[in-house]
Amino acid sequence: MGNRQLCLARRPEGALHVDDFDVVETPVRRLADGEVLVRNTWLSIDPSLRIRLHARTPDGYLPPLAIGEPLAGLALGEVVDSRSPDFAVGELVSHTLGYRDLAILDGDAGTFGGYGAPTRIVPHGFPAQWFLGPLGSSGLTAYVGVTEILRVAPDDTVWVSAAAGAVGSLVAQLARQRGATVIGSAGRPSKVDHLLVAFGLDAAFDHRARPLTESLEECAPEGITMYFDSVGGGHLTAALDALRSGGRIAVCGAISGYDAGAPVPGPHNLFQLVSKSIRMEGYRAGSFNHLSPAMQEEVGDHLAAGRIRFDERVFDGLESAPAAMVAMLHGDHIGKTLVALGERN
Ligand SMILES: NC(=O)c1ccc[n+]([C@@H]2O[C@H](COP(=O)([O-])OP(=O)(O)OC[C@H]3O[C@@H](n4cnc5c(N)ncnc54)[C@H](OP(=O)(O)O)[C@@H]3O)[C@@H](O)[C@H]2O)c1
Repeated sequence: MGNRQLCLARRPEGALHVDDFDVVETPVRRLADGEVLVRNTWLSIDPSLRIRLHARTPDGYLPPLAIGEPLAGLALGEVVDSRSPDFAVGELVSHTLGYRDLAILDGDAGTFGGYGAPTRIVPHGFPAQWFLGPLGSSGLTAYVGVTEILRVAPDDTVWVSAAAGAVGSLVAQLARQRGATVIGSAGRPSKVDHLLVAFGLDAAFDHRARPLTESLEECAPEGITMYFDSVGGGHLTAALDALRSGGRIAVCGAISGYDAGAPVPGPHNLFQLVSKSIRMEGYRAGSFNHLSPAMQEEVGDHLAAGRIRFDERVFDGLESAPAAMVAMLHGDHIGKTLVALGERN
């Protein structure tokens, strides 16, 4: 039996290209004691992979992938063989060995900054792939940002960047559920409409249409109290200008710099952290795994009741994963980008 895996063919320079990857087939070895063979059914397409395609990664982050190395990514699959007492054939498992048809998991299967250890999933009536999205990594990242880092309250005015994406759409809607005034930004007019109509945000703007400071002044004439940052660069600079004294910034990601081969200079106006007593805090969801049950309960309740919605763009087949990555980084779609392998379950 062969196993198709997506491997790094060459280091991308600038924007990712589908030719930066190859599908390579390798034989599947026998399982050792404690190991589990999983047939992957869903792959999560996440921006963080782009960081690992550079020859160097930031201190404290996951190591770079080598040329020829199979990609890693969050995934869901079905156990098809097991020599572990912890997982039985037929069970659904989430793990970090995506971008391949078959994954062999052992007791030490890796995590991404603490997130993604092999976990049995019982969907309780929700679509299985939501355990990669609103009830999985995207949900935990958003929930931690709202409840632990920003601590959103009803009198807050929150700007959420990349608000039509997987994490941002959940942050915006969870903040809205807490009674805050929420401003979302996204990269094209159809997304802005979606933020206003589908998510019911208080205001929204296209970050490509006008200078960010103009859009923020229009949406929040009194300034904002919080900024959820997925983008960095000019977005972070504009947030510092728009924040009121005592404001807060949650640094979740910095996608505007992920294509850059070298570190990107920081904002010129960082001194406003001092002059306006602003607290800025970066975090990784994997440091907050203990909050997954609380997140699943709260987000699951909102989803089941229709109070928040979650959009997906699904690509089919392992060969489509490079195109899915390119589209996600380029902002082509609304919501979470996924790849389904085989029949969708
Ligand atoms: N800290 C953590 O633990 C953690 C966990 C998961 C994800 N993250 C981070 O969270 C962020 C969102 O991840 P996601 O999975 O939810 O992806 P996503 O938002 O679904 O997709 C990425 C989005 O980024 C936007 N974007 C791309 N280039 C941009 C640019 N130059 N300027 C402004 N926006 C740009 C695009 O939206 P537009 O069309 O609107 O521009 C695109 O849709 C990323 O920064 C990611 O690294 C962090």
